[in-house]
Amino acid sequence: ESFFNEKKPLRGKRVLVTAGATMERIDPVRYLTNDSSGKMGYAIAEQAARMGAEVTLVTGKATVAVPNGVKVIRTESTIEMMDAVLSAMDEQDVIIKAAAVSDYRPAEQAPEKIKKTESEMMLKLVKNPDILQAVGERKKASQLVVGFAAETHNVEAFAIDKLKRKRCDLIVANDVTVPGAGFGTDTNVVNVYDANGLVLRLPLMEKREVAARLLAFIADRLTKGEI
Ligand code: CTP
Ligand code: CA
Repeated sequence: ESFFNEKKPLRGKRVLVTAGATMERIDPVRYLTNDSSGKMGYAIAEQAARMGAEVTLVTGKATVAVPNGVKVIRTESTIEMMDAVLSAMDEQDVIIKAAAVSDYRPAEQAPEKIKKTESEMMLKLVKNPDILQAVGERKKASQLVVGFAAETHNVEAFAIDKLKRKRCDLIVANDVTVPGAGFGTDTNVVNVYDANGLVLRLPLMEKREVAARLLAFIADRLTKGEI
């Protein structure tokens, strides 16, 4: 029994992971997006499945292969991703928001390809809803919600501020200026905070290893009932 728990510490748990980049359409052939590769979120989904969890991966645009043994929901825009997350969240034990979500979207989506003219073009953007904040507002006390924070400066202060604002239990802070961290790389350097401060500091390592260490930490919190 304890051997089993060692190997599969997330057995019986439902874990939802968001990953990749959202895409906000301007017209049928153009869109706004970002540099997220999906590697971090996909590594988390893969590792959670290995640790015995029932995994739902809500993914935007990603450049990596979908891991085996996870349920995949493909989405494009932030609003689509939010709908998918909110419809699946009630049955989850853990929700991990690794996706790089667009803060804004075009105010209008042209139904046909926009033709160029002689004049300049203005693109009006409106604010997107915050998926993590919506999850934080709806979550039950038994659910553990993990956000990510990509920062270039004041990493700790901004990360803890996001954690509190969005009511998540843990926040994984990425200093994207550190070599080997952030978008597109196979490695990452992260610090994890809860409302009381730093709880896990990881040196430069493969994203798969980051995923394993983060999930081991989460599994431990679930076992201890510390959410
Ligand atoms: N996030 C989200 N919905 C959004 C924007 C962000 O769910 N519309 C989530 C991300 O998936 C991530 C966390 O919020 O888990 C932090 O994202 P980040 O872009 O670092 O924070 P923002 O609150 O958008 O602040 P800013 O971009 O100004 O730093
Ligand atoms: Ca943002």
